[in-house]
Amino acid sequence: MDGTNHSVVSEFVFMGLSNSWEIQFILFVFSSMLYVASVMGNALIILTVNLDSHLHSPMYFLLANLSFIDLGGSSIASPKMIYDLFRKRKVITFDGCIAQIFFIHVIGGVEMVLLIAMAFDRYVAICKPLHYLTIMSPRMCIFFLVSAWMIGLIHSVVQLAFVVNLPFCGSNVLDSFYCDLPQVIKLACTDTYRLEFMVMANSGFISVGSFFILIISYIIILLTVQKHSSAGLSKALSTLSAHITVVVLFFGPLIFFYTWPSSSTHLDKFLAIFDGVLTPFLNPIIYTFRNQEMQVAMRRVLRQLVSYRTIS
Ligand SMILES: *[C@@H]1O[C@H](CO)[C@@H](O)[C@H](O)[C@H]1NC(C)=O
Repeated sequence: MDGTNHSVVSEFVFMGLSNSWEIQFILFVFSSMLYVASVMGNALIILTVNLDSHLHSPMYFLLANLSFIDLGGSSIASPKMIYDLFRKRKVITFDGCIAQIFFIHVIGGVEMVLLIAMAFDRYVAICKPLHYLTIMSPRMCIFFLVSAWMIGLIHSVVQLAFVVNLPFCGSNVLDSFYCDLPQVIKLACTDTYRLEFMVMANSGFISVGSFFILIISYIIILLTVQKHSSAGLSKALSTLSAHITVVVLFFGPLIFFYTWPSSSTHLDKFLAIFDGVLTPFLNPIIYTFRNQEMQVAMRRVLRQLVSYRTIS
């Protein structure tokens, strides 16, 4: 690196989602509603689990941590996307762009490991119920959380290491509404073919790897459930079906994204909205939908919140 004409690009320009005023308006209404709803839903789960002592169990603590991640994940790109919808020039600074890439990959990595921890928790609860409390001890939970954040951070730092020193000097237009790493790399004025491959391989490896671990654990759980008596079976299956739905919703778009990288950018944008806006909104609904315990606790917490406000 000779230091001359290095990083002349100081900001990136998003092409955004659409030029049609009507589509932008519909996107604005839906994304804002989904964003507000997912912030409230996930915040309610975190509050409920932490305030209600009936829910102080590994399963619910992991769920609250997933909600925390969803809260962060939905706030990386969508508020800016919503704000940008009606702006003519949708710009982001170079540092802002790097920050988006960093947080997207941290959150993505943490979410994958958390989903694996949640699957392991269900495996122990269903297949080794007598040892549940000794295996899923507070120490085990902390171990899972620390590993999730370490893996997320390492994954993200490795991805960023590929880009921070790239020379940008030509075009700065991204056909997207957020800083999508492969697209940012394509803008560098150097030969990026190998770099694109490394970045795709890194993300592809972590997502396909986690997806297979999850699928295998669900198969083991289902086989075990099938062999044993049907007592508690329907409860196990309803919790498990919620997990499987979330996993398919989260990984479906990701894996599609990384296995058909040259598909249209329209599809890529749609999938990105799906993972950035829709999944964080759906997670709380899916986990509380058929969970009586959670619904009762949520009502209790909501009542408490309302009565605090009327007293004060
Ligand atoms: C995450 O889990 C830990 C324990 O496993 C818990 O103490 C913490 O409150 C959880 N985080 C959130 C945001 O609920």
